[in-house]
Amino acid sequence: TGMFTYDPGFLSTAACQSAITYIDGDKGELLYRGYPIEQLAVNCDFLETCHLLLYGELPNAAQKQTFTETVTKHTMVNEQMQFFLRGFRRDAHPMAVLTGLVGGLSAFYHDSTDINNPEHREIAAIRLIAKMPTLVAMAYKYSIGQPFMYPKNSLSYAGNFTHMMFGTPCEEYKVNPVVEKALDRIFILHADHEQNASTSTVRLCGSSGTNPFAAIAAGVACLWGPAHGGANEACLNMLEHIQANGGIAKVGEFMEKVKDKSSGVKLMGFGHRVYKNYDPRAKLMQETCNQVLSELGLEKDPLLALAKQLEKIALEDDYFVQRKLYPNVDFYSGIVQRAIGIPVSLFTAVFALARTVGWIAQLNEMIGDPEYKIGRPRQLFTGTTKRDVKPLAQR
Ligand code: CMC
Repeated sequence: TGMFTYDPGFLSTAACQSAITYIDGDKGELLYRGYPIEQLAVNCDFLETCHLLLYGELPNAAQKQTFTETVTKHTMVNEQMQFFLRGFRRDAHPMAVLTGLVGGLSAFYHDSTDINNPEHREIAAIRLIAKMPTLVAMAYKYSIGQPFMYPKNSLSYAGNFTHMMFGTPCEEYKVNPVVEKALDRIFILHADHEQNASTSTVRLCGSSGTNPFAAIAAGVACLWGPAHGGANEACLNMLEHIQANGGIAKVGEFMEKVKDKSSGVKLMGFGHRVYKNYDPRAKLMQETCNQVLSELGLEKDPLLALAKQLEKIALEDDYFVQRKLYPNVDFYSGIVQRAIGIPVSLFTAVFALARTVGWIAQLNEMIGDPEYKIGRPRQLFTGTTKRDVKPLAQR
């Protein structure tokens, strides 16, 4: 059975060609279509970044306007989606709900079902980018028993999301520009990350020719796990757990547990398969974290102090240095989201909202690739060799 390369976890197998995102893990470099993430985060907004990822170039002013108008035309979801959502328990995890809702879109839009048809893919792409904030906000409003807020197209992409999340029909919601900007940055930093687990899932799922919304729902499902997108939620739960059990004085003790493999405890928000020097997104996120907390008057947030202490210890400790473990994007994004007022259980859904454009761009690229085939990994068989079935009485 030596016919195939055995590479568990795909540590050294390139499963596709891609021209979208470039990562140099040793240098800590991340480029979307050639542009450094540091420049995009400062000079562009999320919809410009979406245009870049989907079409290969940043939009000029006219293209930006057209793209924004196209997206905003699709921000509402079919009213029947409400009834689908209402079938869930109010205390359902938002990622369970979102996996269902995104998959559910495939049942509503019959003009964008054929993944091999570029027009169908285009309209599915726009719909997904437009509707994700609406779906995430609906999942949240449902969980707290408040009425759903319809999208408001005069607002920015991030501003509209805060309106649907925190507004109520009782009074006009005023978008806080600090919160709007921080969210927009979170979206940009999470927009794409080449062939990570959820993106590979979307490619594999889409490679069978399935419905495009269903392929994205598969990405949402994969992102949920704590080793991937669920790390932001897991990281904040970890910080809250330390805080509740003695706080900063107990950081050293917690780190000993992390280093003791038998404990099974990991420092969530640390480590990355590709980044072995630093995660450039983490640096930008920490900057946003400092800005948001100071502008909202939350600099004294004990969880921020805890996070900084954990990072300080980890950056000096042999265990982490030898294994090249550095904070990843999720180490600080949870603190920012919490400061903004987003509940911990919704963090990964916000990540999914942002990553949707990356999933779609990668799906489009795959289908446009003349070498694309259905994904079909092989195996090294380790089971029992051929044997005969005995009649029931003899077993
Ligand atoms: N805390 C403690 N030890 C760790 C951690 C951690 N967070 N991450 C890795 N290690 C250890 C690991 O036990 C292993 O030790 P040894 O060599 O002694 O067996 C060594 O470091 C190498 O780790 P690995 O698990 O072989 O590396 P990987 O590339 O398979 O896993 C990872 C990468 C991100 C899944 C892992 O670092 C991890 O579980 N981190 C915590 C979860 C997390 O923050 N995930 C978010 C990733 S970034 C956002 C995203 O793109 O989704």
